[in-house]
Amino acid sequence: MIIFKESNSLSKYLVAQRNIGRTTGFVPTMGALHNGHTSLIAFSKKTCDLTVSSIFINPTQFNNPDDFKKYPITLNSDIIQLDKAGCDILFLPTVIEIYPHGFNNPPKYDIGELEFVLEGAHRHGHFQGVCQVVERLLSIVAPQKLFLGQKDFQQTLVIKKMISLTNINVDVVVGSTERLPSGLAMSSRNMRLSNQELEKATMIYQVLVYIKEHISSQPLNQLEAYAKDLLLNHGFDSVDYFSIVSLPDLKPVDILEHNNQLIAVTAATIGDVRLIDNMVVSK
Ligand code: PAF
Repeated sequence: MIIFKESNSLSKYLVAQRNIGRTTGFVPTMGALHNGHTSLIAFSKKTCDLTVSSIFINPTQFNNPDDFKKYPITLNSDIIQLDKAGCDILFLPTVIEIYPHGFNNPPKYDIGELEFVLEGAHRHGHFQGVCQVVERLLSIVAPQKLFLGQKDFQQTLVIKKMISLTNINVDVVVGSTERLPSGLAMSSRNMRLSNQELEKATMIYQVLVYIKEHISSQPLNQLEAYAKDLLLNHGFDSVDYFSIVSLPDLKPVDILEHNNQLIAVTAATIGDVRLIDNMVVSK
């Protein structure tokens, strides 16, 4: 695996590869890697000649400075995992490489309601920061395919919207959520949970499965309230939201109608670790 720290040298290298007809798949990350990331690397390797990954903890997407400070950093193990997974190129930029003009006057992306609902309602400015960094990374890597994980479902919609607003020519491929045997979605933030908290956190998955199994038999608002109670009664300290919303636009749904495509989405906190997860729950 070749490691690049400078955007200019990476771009030059990739242009030369494109000129000899090699296609590029890109897996952006913030490090603290797990199987969720390496499964995206494997996905990219199946369909692209070259797989590029990046590790950059993007300051502009953290609405909570404490969360930014505590974000896990495991660079040595990340490099080993990426190499083992067959990643061809790792981009490890500094803040200056990504934000050469600093943080003043950031671009404003008109991503509509997605910016203000669910994650957006609880993490002000988060999705603008995600758009900024992903647009910049795409301009450097210029991949044919961008690989993202389903666990951050709202993020995949936001990035697709940003790509259409900016006319970037790239296909977005969404890989399914990787889970531990307990059902807990793999997440970099799991590293900050104690063994006891890890056990409690599996309740998210159990609740999502319960909702999927009971989606046709109870009113949606009752299911949402029951899901929140279950999380709070089984070890979660707070639940930002547990919502059953429509696909693909994440609009609230009051009554289940035939052929509704629905997804249950949630964000809940144990101690000071905030976890998100989702599951398609329509039959
Ligand atoms: O999902 C993430 O890890 C980040 O939001 C991303 C897409 C790498 C942008 O910083």
